[in-house]
Parts: sequence; C-alpha cells; structure tokens
Amino acid sequence: MWGENLLSGRRILLGVSGGIAAYKSVELLRLLQKSGADVRVAMTESAQKFVGRITFEAISGHPVFERMFDDAAGHEIRHINWAKDADAVVIAPATANIIGKIACGIADDALSTLMMAVTAPRLVCPAMNTHMFENRAVQRNLETLEKDGISVVAPGYGELACKTTGPGRLADPQEIAWRLVDVFTAKDLAGKRVVVSAGPTREPIDPVRYISNPSSGKMGYAVAQAAALRGGDVVLVSGPAVLADPLGVRVRRVSTAHEMAEAVLEECDSADIVVKAAAVSDYRPTDASAHKVKKEKDHLVLELEKTTDILAELGRRKTPGQILVGFAAETRELEKYAIEKMKKKNLDMIAANLVGGKDAGFDADTNTLRLFFPDGRNEKLPMMDKFTAATIILDHVAAILARKGGNGPM
Ligand SMILES: Cc1cc2nc3c(=O)[nH]c(=O)nc-3n(C[C@H](O)[C@H](O)[C@H](O)COP(=O)(O)O)c2cc1C
Repeated sequence: MWGENLLSGRRILLGVSGGIAAYKSVELLRLLQKSGADVRVAMTESAQKFVGRITFEAISGHPVFERMFDDAAGHEIRHINWAKDADAVVIAPATANIIGKIACGIADDALSTLMMAVTAPRLVCPAMNTHMFENRAVQRNLETLEKDGISVVAPGYGELACKTTGPGRLADPQEIAWRLVDVFTAKDLAGKRVVVSAGPTREPIDPVRYISNPSSGKMGYAVAQAAALRGGDVVLVSGPAVLADPLGVRVRRVSTAHEMAEAVLEECDSADIVVKAAAVSDYRPTDASAHKVKKEKDHLVLELEKTTDILAELGRRKTPGQILVGFAAETRELEKYAIEKMKKKNLDMIAANLVGGKDAGFDADTNTLRLFFPDGRNEKLPMMDKFTAATIILDHVAAILARKGGNGPM
C-alpha cells in the first residue's frame, strides 16, 4: 500500500542516537529513500557503538555528521547548513538522553547542536526500556518537546530487548514514514467525515466453508489512509483482510455482506464522503448449514439468494451535499458496465478496472483505473501503486465537494 513517490524530492535528516533500536533506522532510511527522499544521517557517538557510520554513509550516499569538530568537514559549518537544507528532521531511535537534551536546549554534540538550528518540522521517536520511558523526567521532557512544536511518535508496546514488557519499543519504521508523509500533506479534507469500505465478504456455507473472492482490501485501505492524511475523520469498514490498520483511521471489522451493509449504512448517515471499495458478495447461501456438510453425495446443489445491494441503498439515501464513489471490477466491456453502474446507483464517480491481469485489480499492489463521471467525462490513469491511485481519486472528490454547494475544502 506504500506509495512510491510519497516523499519525492524531500530532503530528510535522519538523527540516530544510541539505543538498541538503532539497527531499525537502517530500515527506515531505506524506506524513506524508496519513496523518493534524499536522506542525510547525523549520529551521536553512542549510536556508533550500535551501528557503524559506514553503513549509513553507504546507504544514504552522503557523509554522516557525527563530530562537531571534524577536519574532514573543511570550512563547512555542518550543523547550520544541514539544518537549513532539511525539509524535515526525524530522530529514530531517540534515547532518553537526546530527548532530555533537546527539551532543555543543550547542544553538546553534532546531533543536539544541529537540532537547535532546525526550523523545519521535527519528529522524535523514543525507544527505551519501559521503566526509562515511564520515568517522570522522560515524560516531562516529551511533554516539553510537544509544547515546543516537536512531534513525538509514540513507541509501541511489547517485549523489549531488555526482556521487560511494556511501552518503549521504537515505532514501526513504516509508521514513522507515514508520519513524515503526514507532515507534507495538505489537510484539504479537514472536518470531513469519510466512510470507506474495503476487502471481501465471506458468506458461510457451513461453519468451516464460505463463498468469498480474492479481494485483498488494498485499494480501500489506501483510500482510507490517504483521506486520513488529508485531515479527514475516517472510518474504514473492512471485510476480512490481513492488512495493518491505516494510521489515524477508525476500523470496523465485519465478515458477511449483511454485517458490511449494517455497518456501512450506520456510518454513512453523517458522512460527507463515502467510498465503496469493498468487493461484497452479490449472493449468499440461502440456508447455511449449522454443521459441517459431509462428503456423502456425488453432487451437491447450493441455493443462493441475493444480498443487500449496499451501493444502491447508499445511492437512494444520498443527501445533496454527500459524495458517493463506487468501484467496478469487470472482466469485459468495462466502460459500458461502469457507466451503467454509476447511473443506476446515483454515484458521483466510479473507478473501474479490468480484473484478471497480474498487475491490476484483486490483491495486486498496483492498479490501472479508469474514472467515469456523470457529466460524461472520463480519465484513463496509467498503471500506478494503489496509494497514488487513491490520491488521484481524492483529488477528484475534493474538487466535486468544492463544486457541490461550496462547502468543499478548496
Ligand atoms: C546495550 C545498551 C543498550 C541501550 N539502549 C538504550 C535504549 O534503547 N534507549 C535509551 O534511551 N538508552 C539506551 N542505552 C543508553 C544510552 O546509550 C546512553 O544513555 C547514552 O548516553 C545515550 O547517548 P546519546 O543520546 O548521545 O546517543 C543503552 C545502553 C546500552 C549499553
């Protein structure tokens, strides 16, 4: 679900201090680079006891800033120049020590001095033993950082390297990367309630079997994540999927088409935007067996009945200011079926794709979409990662919102 160009052209400064989790900052560095960022690394002396400078130099392609008074720097005043050049700074992991120094305005090494000169957005990602993290001084210092406008990325909960269990584990590098993307994302959906549905549904045949489809939920999760980053108040109604909850999104998990219908219809009443990306089963077994069906008969006929058409119901209930977006996955005659569906279900836009290929549709990380609008316009998007596709869909949603009664964000 991670977009390839999310940090394209951004200059990120990665600060590494001396904790066990320093090895994870190598993964973070790779992730930031993968999304197009140019990353420079500043390390404390202690950090180098955990991961060598050479690793960061080789991967970042830049010298590492580690010593204030370094002959190799020549006349360059690195702590000022690097601070000036950065679009954002992230310290991961941040030790109790560097947190304390930043909170108190101490500048006695390369990283802490550089932090003093930074005016760009700053993120600090604490990682330490639970007792250290819960120490009053550390908590006080973290509060000070937040008051000073520095974002703290809360550590995760779990078993730590020191064998204690509790908060203190460095936030997942993927989460840290999202937080950086968040810094650069315009909040054009602020104040908007967004409902997104995603994933397949499962219609039981008996307690151990069901009818479903190969939808992974990736498209809907990407829309939910992109909408939350743009400031939307987002709820994601998800059928069974193995994806991590998108950051800053309330997730409601359901299984059957009936549960999906109940949850979506409940949530949509007060929604400004509804994006229905779930692959809901059109039919379900009429009588699910209470016990496992035994392999006795040579032929077995399964009787099916229609499930609730959620999108049609949403179209009927749509209020004048509300925006309804649907998806259509077809194996043929894409344009004809997509336009028919858009009209029949009173949609403001439909995103359609042909399924069956390996780079698009179900379970792929990429999608090749065509967008259709009620006024006859359509837009053919090239193959792209699902997050980028979600961003383009939301650009259109924001534009439609702005046109509808002027209550839009733009
Ligand atoms: C094996 C080992 C692991 C450590 N892990 C952490 C840690 O995860 N978090 C932390 O705040 N300090 C940790 N420390 C303590 C710091 O390295 C120490 O406080 C140091 O002064 C931090 O310096 P710095 O903030 O300049 O990097 C660890 C020390 C050792 C010996």
